Amino acid sequence: MDDSINDCSNITFRPPSALDGAQVHRLVSLCPPLDPNSMYCNLLQCSHFSDTSVAAVSDDVLVGFISGYLIPNQSETLFIWQVAVGEQARGQGLAGRMIEQILLRSACSDVRYLNTTITESNQASWRLFESIARRLGAELNSSVYFDRDQHFAGDHDSEMLVRIGPFSFGTRD
Ligand SMILES: CC(C)(COP(=O)(O)OP(=O)(O)OC[C@H]1O[C@@H](n2cnc3c(N)ncnc32)[C@H](O)[C@@H]1OP(=O)(O)O)[C@@H](O)C(=O)NCCC(=O)NCCS
Repeated sequence: MDDSINDCSNITFRPPSALDGAQVHRLVSLCPPLDPNSMYCNLLQCSHFSDTSVAAVSDDVLVGFISGYLIPNQSETLFIWQVAVGEQARGQGLAGRMIEQILLRSACSDVRYLNTTITESNQASWRLFESIARRLGAELNSSVYFDRDQHFAGDHDSEMLVRIGPFSFGTRD
């Protein structure tokens, strides 16, 4: 049986709450190569960073989630921490739409730059952020941020900092 979600129109977007923490934990664990953080970390993302994170829900099931935050003392820069889209909901523009939903919030009214980190090998993630840069009509620059040996003691591939901007994107709430 094909249980893919073919119609994105019944997906609703909202800021997450702590009640979503367990579902977020499960979704992230089903989305390699994402780091499965502790459920406690997901609860903090869903509560402290709710204004800059998004839950995509279909029939009460979490099908997509983005954790993000404004970098402390840099209200112009939204940092996207993790993007997770359940396998059944991929390939329909959901990740891009979730990022737009966050940028439209009043919490992001000063945001002109979007930062994230990506490992060299995560092609889906590179394509996603290249696509977002195109839609925002903004430059994308990248450089090593956390180095495999210097920062990860050889245990994790280097994470490249990807910075998109400057851009302007209207708020609506
Ligand atoms: C990466 C991920 C979030 C993409 O979600 P999605 O909703 O399918 O992405 P979208 O449909 O919004 O696609 C956005 C762009 O990325 C491209 N893209 C998405 N997945 C891709 C893949 N596997 N390979 C190549 N390109 C891909 C799309 O073609 C689209 O480009 P376009 O606008 O030029 O057509 C999803 O595959 C996922 O959760 N993967 C596992 C976790 C992960 O790697 N997260 C990202 C790291 S933070």
